[in-house]
Amino acid sequence: MINQEKFNLLEAKNKEAFAGGGEERIKKQHEKGKLTARERVELLLDQGSFQELGRFVTHRSQDLGLDKNIPLGDGVVTGYGTVNGRLIYIFSQDFTIFGGSLAEAHAEKIVKIMDLAMKNGAPLIGLNDSGGARIQEGVVSLGGYADIFYRNTLASGVIPQISAIMGPCAGGAVYSPAITDFNIMVENSSYMFVTGPNVVKTVTHEEVTSEELGGASAHSTKSGVAHFTAGNDLDALNKIKKLLSYIPQNCEETVPDTDYDTDNGANPKLNDVIPENPNQPYDIRDVIYKIIDKESFFEVHESYAGNIVVGFARLAGRSIGIVANQPMYLAGVLDIESSKKGARFVRFCDAFNIPLLVFEDVPGFLPGTDQEWRAIITNGAKLLYAFSEATVPRITVITRKAYGGAYDVMNSKHIGADLNFAWPTAEIAVMGAKGAAEIIFKREISKAEKPEEKLKEKEAEFNKIFANPYIAAARGYVDEVIKPEDTRNRLIKGFKMLENKVDKLPKKKHGNIPL
Ligand code: HXC
Repeated sequence: MINQEKFNLLEAKNKEAFAGGGEERIKKQHEKGKLTARERVELLLDQGSFQELGRFVTHRSQDLGLDKNIPLGDGVVTGYGTVNGRLIYIFSQDFTIFGGSLAEAHAEKIVKIMDLAMKNGAPLIGLNDSGGARIQEGVVSLGGYADIFYRNTLASGVIPQISAIMGPCAGGAVYSPAITDFNIMVENSSYMFVTGPNVVKTVTHEEVTSEELGGASAHSTKSGVAHFTAGNDLDALNKIKKLLSYIPQNCEETVPDTDYDTDNGANPKLNDVIPENPNQPYDIRDVIYKIIDKESFFEVHESYAGNIVVGFARLAGRSIGIVANQPMYLAGVLDIESSKKGARFVRFCDAFNIPLLVFEDVPGFLPGTDQEWRAIITNGAKLLYAFSEATVPRITVITRKAYGGAYDVMNSKHIGADLNFAWPTAEIAVMGAKGAAEIIFKREISKAEKPEEKLKEKEAEFNKIFANPYIAAARGYVDEVIKPEDTRNRLIKGFKMLENKVDKLPKKKHGNIPL
């Protein structure tokens, strides 16, 4: 955690760095509730570990008065250092210089550390606070952006890339964070959009503020562009630190284990989580918390597509990725947003050797014209594809419903899950009892004297036969029906058994995920 004492030390250091009119700039930034670029870097990194590169770089532009304004560093602080002892590379845009705008020299500095991060296999952190392409430098600025986007793409899946949005991030500038693995947005002081409120008004006649259009709230709830939000700059930096603790340095490495609570005994509280009534919701987080190491859940996309819960956790000290249907929200149904959210997370975990744990309670895919016309077919397939392609250790626990195509999609054995456990409350079937009875006993029900009663009778008959895990277990689609209280223990043993798993995909240039 970052404390006040460290912050005070930095204040002094900062003023020294900005000698000559700098104090005014620092003040302006602080008045907006923002830290300066240098403060952000120093606060994120381990004390004294930051090694700056390119502090004396300047722009070479002569136009529009730039020949008289040549600040050192060209509006971005770049370098490397450690976070909790692990190497990272970082750039931090300085809004106090040309509005943090990106131009030739500024871009070259970022490119330099991106190349170093790739060659040395360590995460890249980008702290974005910029007015976009430096208008005075024209196409050279655009070229600089493209140089960065290209490297973001090549680095994807090789090193983790994290973006924090700590001020403006507009126009084409948004596409670097878009390609990186995670975006953290600071509430009320950051915004991201391709075109701002003025252009929006001209083109669509909509009146909207920057905050409404592309603030942290919009992107964490509506678009899903932001994976995390933070109350202020310090909070954002602490979230980056936390995120880094769950992920490896690069795609060849695994995450260091941490100490954990050694109590791996049964947790009887889990036996009572599933309500008697199969249509009553419960919070899947209650299940997650009772199984993982204490207080280790770090949720991703917490406010977006609530019908699926994804996030990092630790199990016996090991970092894992969790994907769970959430019966509390839309009954845990899979729709376009939740499929995309799940797929992106699964692919991140798979790219970076993080084992996957799935909790399944899903009534199927969401029906309706809205979903069909916006391509639930293509989007649902993303999650299916992502799981099918994942070669990391994968375990599923079916807590209740596993219906229809969603049974296949949610990390079933058929698409490569290594272990599939079910609680005795699991219902594994083509569809729910009511829908099934209405179809297969249609004639019988319509001819009955009391069709309502007949439907109920047939529903009960269907439930008795199918609403359990034993048919799937008899086929081996479920490896074990386990007591809920034993889940933690079984999962620890399962992941231990899978520790050295080697699985390879067929040789190919790359797959063609349905985008
Ligand atoms: C050069 C810029 C700049 C830019 C801001 N500044 N943006 N200088 N190029 N893009 C300078 C301002 O002139 C000012 O300089 C200082 O930064 C602070 O800006 P203010 O406007 O005073 O700050 P604020 O009121 O907080 O407004 C911030 C802002 C606004 C909303 C970001 O500055 C703005 O709208 N800037 C332009 C945004 C833009 O249109 N960018 C291009 C987008 S297109 P002084 O000297 O007065 O302190 C793009 C394409 C990328 O980025 C494509 C990639 C493929």
